[in-house]
Amino acid sequence: MTDIIAISGSLRKGSFNTALLNAAERMFPDHIQAASINGIPLYNADFEESQGIPAVVVDLKDRIAGADGLLIATPEYNNSMPGVLKNAVDWLSRPADDIPRVFHGKPVAVIGASPGGFGTILAQSAWLPVLRTLKTRPWYGGRLMVSRVSNLVDDDGVLTDKDTREKVEKFVRGFIEFCDD
Ligand code: FNR
Repeated sequence: MTDIIAISGSLRKGSFNTALLNAAERMFPDHIQAASINGIPLYNADFEESQGIPAVVVDLKDRIAGADGLLIATPEYNNSMPGVLKNAVDWLSRPADDIPRVFHGKPVAVIGASPGGFGTILAQSAWLPVLRTLKTRPWYGGRLMVSRVSNLVDDDGVLTDKDTREKVEKFVRGFIEFCDD
């Protein structure tokens, strides 16, 4: 059974990006498992040297290492990725000699949603050099950029728009097949 860890790059309770992942998890409960970056401190090399890797990071690294794939839902901030998510990935890449276990060859897919018209296209592109540096195996078989997302989610944060749900389902199905290879 393909196991995919899904990480939202937003800590916001009403996050549209988390809503996308929640929809994917409900569609493919046997394949998608949500993981949170909540509680990861700001990266500080002094902290790492004196106290080591925080338990929350160790746990997330192990979950990614044990998974068949990693699905990232990235918000877009100032035409790039949000700092909290980049900070989390920076921690996940420590210590550097553990990067092969966690990231090398790992299938990764990036999706995103924004209330604006471009659906996180620039944030998704901004992740590419990071994914390359970590020697992951990005999936280019599908793209999912959800724009004007405020109209597609209900008051409880559930992705209700039929067309978008179908796009999510198609994307995730394709990524599961890729991870299966
Ligand atoms: C944004 N937002 C935003 N949206 C976008 O499409 N392009 C952008 O460059 C930015 N820039 C930006 C900067 C900052 C600092 C904030 C706080 C927000 C809007 C953003 O897409 C919106 O807040 C989303 O709702 C964030 O995702 P979540 O939290 O809903 O998952």
